[in-house]
Amino acid sequence: MRELLSQQNVDYQERAREVAEKFVRPRAAELDRSAEYGWDILEALKRYELTGIWIPEEYGGQGAGALDLCLVVEQLSRACGGIGVAYSVNALGSFPLILNATEEQKQKYLPGIASGDLLIAFGLSEKPSGSDAGSLRTTAIKDGDAYVLNGHKKWNTNGGVAGIYTVFALTDPAKGMRGISAFIVERDTPGFVVGKREDTLGIRTVPVNELSFTDCRVPASQLLGGKEGGGFRNAMMTLDRARPGVAAQALGLAQGALEWALRYTSERRQFGQTVLSFQAIQFMLADMATQVEAARQLVYASARAIDAGAKNISRLAAMAKVFATDTAMKVTTDAVQLFGGYGYCKDYPIEKYMRDAKITQIYEGTNQVQRVVIARSLTRELADMAGHLDVKVEHFPEYEAPQE
Ligand code: CAA
Repeated sequence: MRELLSQQNVDYQERAREVAEKFVRPRAAELDRSAEYGWDILEALKRYELTGIWIPEEYGGQGAGALDLCLVVEQLSRACGGIGVAYSVNALGSFPLILNATEEQKQKYLPGIASGDLLIAFGLSEKPSGSDAGSLRTTAIKDGDAYVLNGHKKWNTNGGVAGIYTVFALTDPAKGMRGISAFIVERDTPGFVVGKREDTLGIRTVPVNELSFTDCRVPASQLLGGKEGGGFRNAMMTLDRARPGVAAQALGLAQGALEWALRYTSERRQFGQTVLSFQAIQFMLADMATQVEAARQLVYASARAIDAGAKNISRLAAMAKVFATDTAMKVTTDAVQLFGGYGYCKDYPIEKYMRDAKITQIYEGTNQVQRVVIARSLTRELADMAGHLDVKVEHFPEYEAPQE
């Protein structure tokens, strides 16, 4: 509901909506077919001053909040889920810097991300380590004034277009996940190669690549925060802040699919009346709209918690991610159903929504991982309660029948 948003929120929402309607929607199908990166859309985002809004003002950004970011991602994703993530993955890549980089590193890289001239990607996953992110194997061994990186990364969204990469690697392999550190790696570093591009089901405008590091010497000044260790914690804190963005992408997809379904069913006629006039169809649309609105409230609540500086945001961020992305999958699938046979064909816009939605249940932590995060948080809460609650299981008092 617009009344619940601040004027700043509404400004971002409206600007993003204009970009989405004028520049994204007309290009969505073509970018999906050609799998080209939407460079023209990036230029539009620059003109509308929407790139890197989450970067603090002292580093050339706008210091916008998580809710502003979610509103922009939602609007872009209403028109194209691929463009939604092409935009938000820069936030995922730059949160590690905002959280832990040295002043010098922030001064060097954040202004370029804010202006949109420098794209960034986040390199955590590897072939053998996906959900079990702490078991990554890429090493970064100190050698004089440099670290030598060896290993591979997988599922690097933005991989083919980024200029810099936050890369997580073991500086002390004996310590396992506590020996993970983060590095800022520039694209032209010798020994670093952006490899195979994945042929993905959806979000086809964004290149998702493998990365490889072979005796890649990265100056010690590129060690994030100038300190070894703490890389895993940095990655987890980053994901806590980025997951509402994926949830917003899913929300935009669900909202966009709902709008298409409403429009189609109000125009399509069968048995002498619009398809929308059948109550069975109205009930489907009513359920879809209710689910979208419930997802929206959770996404905005998680973003507001981040903006308010809430200490433990993991649970709410995970809840928003799991609920909004499961909703997107359900709503986009139902929207395809409402289009009937046409929904299954690429001549119509709706099947792309379903393809784009699927990845939101998988990346930035599968929805199974989100449930692990939520359940662990509940377990910790239980442990806290145990100390001060005298938990006894009592039977309900015997039922006494009222006297006649
Ligand atoms: N904030 C701060 N610290 C945290 C934290 C958080 N949210 N979560 C965990 N930690 C800390 C713990 O306190 C612990 O610290 P100590 O060692 O000091 O005790 C340490 O990290 C290890 O924590 P866990 O024991 O909980 O770690 P785990 O191995 O059990 O893993 C997990 C937990 C939640 C499953 C985690 O591995 C995870 O989130 N996995 C999914 C990874 C993921 O989302 N990958 C997606 C990558 S991005 C992508 O998709 C590609 C793209 O480009 C879009």
